[in-house]
Amino acid sequence: MSPRLLAEHDLGRANTLGLPCVAERFIAPRDERQLCEALALAEREGWPLTLLGGGSNLILPERLPGLVVQPAMADWWLEERGDEVLVHAEAGVVWHELVMALVQRGLWGIENLALIPGHCGAAPIQNIGAYGVELGEMLEAVHLVRLDDGREAVMTAADCAFGYRDSVFKGALDGRVAITRLVLRLSRTPRPRLGYGDLATRVGSEPTPLAVAEAVCAIRREKLPDPLTLANAGSFFKNPLVDAGTARRLLAGHPGLPHFPQPDGRVKLAAGWLIDRCGLKGWCRGHFGVHRRQALVLVHFGGGGAAELLDFADAVAGQVSERFGVALEREPRLAGKGGTLA
Ligand code: FAD
Ligand code: EPU
Repeated sequence: MSPRLLAEHDLGRANTLGLPCVAERFIAPRDERQLCEALALAEREGWPLTLLGGGSNLILPERLPGLVVQPAMADWWLEERGDEVLVHAEAGVVWHELVMALVQRGLWGIENLALIPGHCGAAPIQNIGAYGVELGEMLEAVHLVRLDDGREAVMTAADCAFGYRDSVFKGALDGRVAITRLVLRLSRTPRPRLGYGDLATRVGSEPTPLAVAEAVCAIRREKLPDPLTLANAGSFFKNPLVDAGTARRLLAGHPGLPHFPQPDGRVKLAAGWLIDRCGLKGWCRGHFGVHRRQALVLVHFGGGGAAELLDFADAVAGQVSERFGVALEREPRLAGKGGTLA
């Protein structure tokens, strides 16, 4: 049965920032054929198109014109390949549920990415990463449909041009594809990655994929607010990448600044530390605030809208720029660029 095309659909609960938003039209296709039909309909009618996953990295306007498509196909399966296992996961699979199912099967590679909200289809967009691991390291292929001609295509990790919170889907292919399926390459051979923070201590001497995933979940629950109880989009800013000279200058004045040299010579700084040192942890204005345990997370207490959030974020970034001379770049994406902000 075809999914219903809904009019004036409320997305207030479909985004973890809890921003009020109404989609002019909304559809949740349950297989690839239905998805292609929805994309073709939008193309024929000239409707602006917005793809929605779990809404955990999106800033939604008050009204999204055109058609919002939320892929709801949610099957996944395994393909054995010697010691490796290929995992095929459709766009609507909930990322964390997939991670837990795979670590329970003893598969290595994905365990550090436990408890990241959202759906598989969005994972390549910003090359999700946590605890020293990024999606791009395990991605074998991305299946997608091109929006301009409705044709299917398969891209390799190299095609995706992954970087820190970056990919070709935020660049040349921004708004031009619908991702339908991921293929991930995991391993049965133990290869724990415990170098980030105190992860090694938390996991103990006998790491298993499940033990690592559980330790990651425990750390994340201590630091990050659960969007179900306090609306947020995770880190609101990316960690800034600065050149080596700038890093040296900042470190001379602030020796405690957490910093991570990158292979390209740049240095990644902890934006949370910079915001924290501006004295902004727990700072609230209007309906928004800086989280009191993790300064990189902006929280919404309810009743606010996207325009107020963006103003608040500018105020935070402005203070960091004034004090440290470092520009912060937003991580969550603005949806429906033509929409009106609440
Ligand atoms: P959405 O927010 O729905 O969409 C994000 C973008 O992807 C939008 O531009 C949307 O149009 C596009 N999109 C969605 N589906 C498709 C598709 N099928 N095809 C093409 N484009 C599509 N991120 C990290 O990297 N690491 C973390 O540790 C992390 N922790 C977080 C913690 C919390 C509490 C929260 C709320 C967020 C966190 N995030 C983290 C951010 C977020 O979870 C990820 O960016 C996630 O991949 C977003 O998935 P989503 O399904 O919610 O995408
Ligand atoms: N810090 C502070 N004060 C704060 C927050 C952080 O001093 O208020 C310091 C910490 O003590 C630590 C450093 O900053 O020395 C880094 O903090 P943390 O380990 O919490 O990581 P992060 O840089 O704040 C990044 C990602 C998270 C990811 C974690 C773990 C970005 C933008 N954020 O956060 O991703 O889960 O590392 O790998 O890269 C997300 O993208 O939404 C997200 C949550």
